[in-house]
Amino acid sequence: APQIPQGYTVREMELSDIQHGLLDTLSALTTVGDVTAEKFQELLQHWKSLPSIYKPMVIVEDSTKKIAATGVLLIERKLIHDCAKLGHIEDIAVDKNYQGLKLGKAIIDILTELAWKENCYKIVLYCSDSNVKFYEKCGYKLDGANMSFRN
Ligand code: ACO
Repeated sequence: APQIPQGYTVREMELSDIQHGLLDTLSALTTVGDVTAEKFQELLQHWKSLPSIYKPMVIVEDSTKKIAATGVLLIERKLIHDCAKLGHIEDIAVDKNYQGLKLGKAIIDILTELAWKENCYKIVLYCSDSNVKFYEKCGYKLDGANMSFRN
């Protein structure tokens, strides 16, 4: 089983996480925007209505209840490879004040194990060049090119 640093707990994302710094943690990744508690509730309801696809996870610091890290596994059911499942790792963030404590590796290890448990044949993710070494330490390899068409 994946190693979680002492004093931290991993669990599925829940509604109250917005009161414990989830959005602040995500701001280490990108702009979050003005997500109200209502908007978050609607989104979480959508995710939780499709639990075989969306696996949003958090790592909580036990002493403060602060959301120290977060990440999502999406499971895509394909037609190819005899209706195989492909895992997508998305929106990984460790709060600025908690980086370098192995929480990033812990969240990736957890999402990776979850994908293998769900019988995904492969897991893919998109990252910047500056994060390649981090993902290599988590077992991932450079594989092809990333492309995007922004609007
Ligand atoms: N470059 C090189 N090595 C790194 C980097 C990096 N950018 N980040 C971590 N490492 C190394 C660490 O030194 C450590 O090495 P060690 O085991 O030899 O000591 C190992 O990787 C594990 O590091 P963690 O302590 O788990 O890293 P951290 O908790 O800081 O998490 C992360 C890394 C997720 C990149 C974090 O810094 C972060 O949230 N950054 C901002 C947001 C971001 O870039 N998220 C990922 C976007 S990609 C996506 O979402 C699919």
